[in-house]
Amino acid sequence: MLNDQQLRSVAFLTQSARRILFITGAGVSAESGIPTFRGAGAAFPDGKTEDGIPFEEALSGWMLKKNPALSWKYFFRLEEFLRDKVPNAAHHAMARLQAPDRDVWIATQNIDGLHQAAGSTHVLELHGNLRRIVCTRCDYLDFPATFQGFSPVPRCPRCSAMLRPDAVLYGENLPERDLATFLEQQEKGFDIVFSVGTTSIFPYISMPMLAASRQGIPTVEINPDPTSISDYVQFTFPNSAAQTLRSLLDSMDADAD
Ligand code: OAD
Repeated sequence: MLNDQQLRSVAFLTQSARRILFITGAGVSAESGIPTFRGAGAAFPDGKTEDGIPFEEALSGWMLKKNPALSWKYFFRLEEFLRDKVPNAAHHAMARLQAPDRDVWIATQNIDGLHQAAGSTHVLELHGNLRRIVCTRCDYLDFPATFQGFSPVPRCPRCSAMLRPDAVLYGENLPERDLATFLEQQEKGFDIVFSVGTTSIFPYISMPMLAASRQGIPTVEINPDPTSISDYVQFTFPNSAAQTLRSLLDSMDADAD
């Protein structure tokens, strides 16, 4: 059950906000049918791949160098999860909040492109994008609709070096440009900051929420399970992202009538 009083307060704050930040994670795409990494219904139960190693190892920059076929096996698996998936009500609600007099920024850890598919324009892909395929040697780049038909370790058609998804693997740096924009936008400040569907395990994900909260900026967490930041957030909705954000928009529409 959603807390009506809280919902009305967040609706009011969101309506009057000129700058909104959404920090999003796998939980936002859960209702599009894409499994999360952790928690109930996760892609890798107990955090292990079927090869018996933690998924963080299989999906690491180190493993891609040492055993590319193994990493690629799980890139194929992730691509199968994303294939033919479409944005859900949570992605659409964030896109709908964009307005001429309101900037909505989305800093996402998701590599599925569903925020852009829903029409959001200021999307920072902090973990890259699975379907953007790049060469490990030259500047070849492709955006295939699917990985079907790829060989087990795909090679560059130009220089025959190994291809890889332009996604951030464990042990690798975040994309410089998106990270710089994220920091710049945080400097400018936000009127309200949401954390939606993420366990917030990375400091660059939890810190903006904690900093906003310390500065007295309204903070909102939407996640059925408590996380390490839940105690520091002003409004917590222990509910699904799609249900909560749809209700938030309904509440804003009702206020506008
Ligand atoms: P996780 O899989 O760690 O966590 C998903 C979160 O979504 C959990 O806290 C769930 O409780 C929550 N959740 C599940 N269903 C939800 C729903 N319908 N509505 C709202 N929340 C829901 O995903 P992330 O926090 O995104 O990185 O994981 C962070 C990173 O860990 C990923 O980007 C990936 C992974 O390893 C890399 O691969 C580098």
